[in-house]
Amino acid sequence: MLTRRLGSSDFAVGAVGLGCMGMSWAYTPSEQNASESLAVLARAVDLGVTLIDTADMYGPFTNEELVGRGLAGRRDRVTLATKCGNVVADGGITQDGRPEHVREAIDASLRRLRTDVVDLYQLHRVDAAVPLADTWGAMAELVAAGKVRAIGLSEVSVAQLDLAHAIHPVASVQSELSLWTRDPLENGVLAWCEAHDAAFLPFSPLGRGFLTGAVTSAAFDPGDFRSRLPRFTADAMAANATIVDAVRVVAERQDVTPAQVALAWTLAQGDQVIPIPGTKRVRYLEQNAAAADVTLTPGDLADLDAIPSPVGTRY
Ligand SMILES: NC(=O)c1ccc[n+]([C@@H]2O[C@H](COP(=O)([O-])OP(=O)(O)OC[C@H]3O[C@@H](n4cnc5c(N)ncnc54)[C@H](OP(=O)(O)O)[C@@H]3O)[C@@H](O)[C@H]2O)c1
Repeated sequence: MLTRRLGSSDFAVGAVGLGCMGMSWAYTPSEQNASESLAVLARAVDLGVTLIDTADMYGPFTNEELVGRGLAGRRDRVTLATKCGNVVADGGITQDGRPEHVREAIDASLRRLRTDVVDLYQLHRVDAAVPLADTWGAMAELVAAGKVRAIGLSEVSVAQLDLAHAIHPVASVQSELSLWTRDPLENGVLAWCEAHDAAFLPFSPLGRGFLTGAVTSAAFDPGDFRSRLPRFTADAMAANATIVDAVRVVAERQDVTPAQVALAWTLAQGDQVIPIPGTKRVRYLEQNAAAADVTLTPGDLADLDAIPSPVGTRY
């Protein structure tokens, strides 16, 4: 696996990472399977898929526990990323960016992850009720305390990045980026990462599965998060099928899968980009890892860049 450097940090990670959310949360709950997920984590390490992403809110908490189990005996071979700041309560998600919450959250994550240090600790969302400087300052203190090696942000603006970076270097930004969600290309965040030597970690790089062509019905499992998303209504999916068709054309030309095209497109957006596709299946993991070797031609990229905007907002 080709490697990329995680921002200005010392970590060289596989160019394609692994998002672990779906192993315990959000998608096809009826197909979650701990033993297959543990196999995915083991195989990821062997393939060089070494950036492993989780969060305390996935489950909540159970995803970190699963990742901790899966990485037992392998911890020193991966770059382990988790997040704080989103809290699941009463069936909803709220933000808690208070410094005291950050300090409690890291200790709980370390326990669940069975480690004494998190390589990349990310603020899942900014809490509008707490100055970002306070939350970020508390996260910076965790670096000084040796509990965390680097800190990053998720779904932030350029102004928030500037504010945070003046306090402590931003190692990474994690935001949605894919063939059907190009906001970071347009709002300056990807360019900010390039200019400030920060990694950019596209989340949902496969469009929550849609861009692979494997999601064809809006009849989701009860509890599947996509049933609440505007892009996954039956009408929106029918309209957005043209996007998948365009991805398929490039995939056939390259003799690869649509998922690999979707990931290769994110990798082509800059050397600082490290996508973290999510899967709970070894065969998808292997396919996604191999996307690091796919080189899209200028013609492929032009065709993919011409894909129209999707029907439906992303949330
Ligand atoms: N910071 C944030 O706010 C935020 C938000 C969302 C996600 N994330 C992170 O980003 C990671 C990835 O995003 P995501 O999981 O939302 O979406 P994604 O990576 O775009 O898509 C995941 C979906 O695609 C399917 N899939 C994966 N590889 C495939 C392949 N090769 N062929 C066909 N289908 C495939 C998965 O199926 P199976 O589940 O059946 O394997 C799953 O349903 C998450 O795991 C999480 O770590 C962060």
